[in-house]
Amino acid sequence: MNTVAGNSRRKVALAVLAIRRAAYSTCIPASGRVIDHPSLLLTERAWSGSRMDAAPTANRLLRPAQPARHLSVAAPGKQDQQAAQADDTSVAGSRSLKADQLVSEYWGIVPKQLQREDGSPWPWHSFRPADTYAADVAIDVDRHYPAEKSWVDRAAFWTVRALRGPVDLFFKERHVSHALLLETVAGVPGMVGGMLLHLRSLRRFEHSGGWIKTLLDEAENERMHLMTWVEVLRPAWWERALVLAVQGTFFNAYFLLYLASPRLAHRFVGYLEEEAVRSYTEFLQAIDVGHTPNRPAPLIAIDYWRLPADATIRDVVLVVRADEAHHRDVNHFAADVYNEKRELRTSPAPISYH
Ligand SMILES: [Fe+2]
Ligand SMILES: [Fe+2]
Repeated sequence: MNTVAGNSRRKVALAVLAIRRAAYSTCIPASGRVIDHPSLLLTERAWSGSRMDAAPTANRLLRPAQPARHLSVAAPGKQDQQAAQADDTSVAGSRSLKADQLVSEYWGIVPKQLQREDGSPWPWHSFRPADTYAADVAIDVDRHYPAEKSWVDRAAFWTVRALRGPVDLFFKERHVSHALLLETVAGVPGMVGGMLLHLRSLRRFEHSGGWIKTLLDEAENERMHLMTWVEVLRPAWWERALVLAVQGTFFNAYFLLYLASPRLAHRFVGYLEEEAVRSYTEFLQAIDVGHTPNRPAPLIAIDYWRLPADATIRDVVLVVRADEAHHRDVNHFAADVYNEKRELRTSPAPISYH
């Protein structure tokens, strides 16, 4: 009896999930390709990012999400596998599942099927329910570190300020595109800093003070921002090319900068995060005055930030901006540690500070 009731609840939850997905992607053609979409942004393209869009609408409404390997959509549970194999509209998906099944059987590794609190299957591979959190949107978004104490601070401030003009000119009112490309850069410093501190810890046989985890968490958090925006807008080929060039340059430049002066590197990121807060504030204002439509939030954002089911893009911008404000504080704090002639390893890091 309990099993029957449980199955019913699961079916209802999955139907609601499928309807939300369908509602979110009604503007997307069956091919799932990029289209010019007037209702998201006047000059930006909309993108659902889900291979479910290739399935007939009836399938989407009546069945749970198809397991997909693209954009971390759905985890392949046993029922999903059987359903996918029976569905001749998802031949490619079935092949992928068979491959997964063979690998799992060979190594004896079967991914644990996780669930949301409502009992529906956890669809994400890239983060677990334990990795989700409610962002602290009460954080002061107007805080600014005054660049008056040293030439290092002034150099960091004016470098970031010099970058602001061309970036604003390039993106203008295309806030989603701005956010998307900004996050491809924002995810680099935490990874570089975390990696270098990790190597230092190994090399010198010393503790890190928690800074390795803090910086790697920051990088992962930034990457989740990117995974969120890519559900809203798919980058054009020239934007991908731009990201390639910028990443190649920025990664190496930041790597060398961190080796030369971690103090300057963290201060630079602190100011970069201040700029991120500012650009997300402008994004919010564009939504509030109606320049940017306030569409439903991507499902990945609802799960990652524990947002309500009816959350919108505005809610997502609020939590992302709160994250950026926390990154700002973490990096200015790290720079302050160096300012005071101390080392990060002796100054406990704010682990899991979002
Ligand atoms: Fe970010
Ligand atoms: Fe950030």
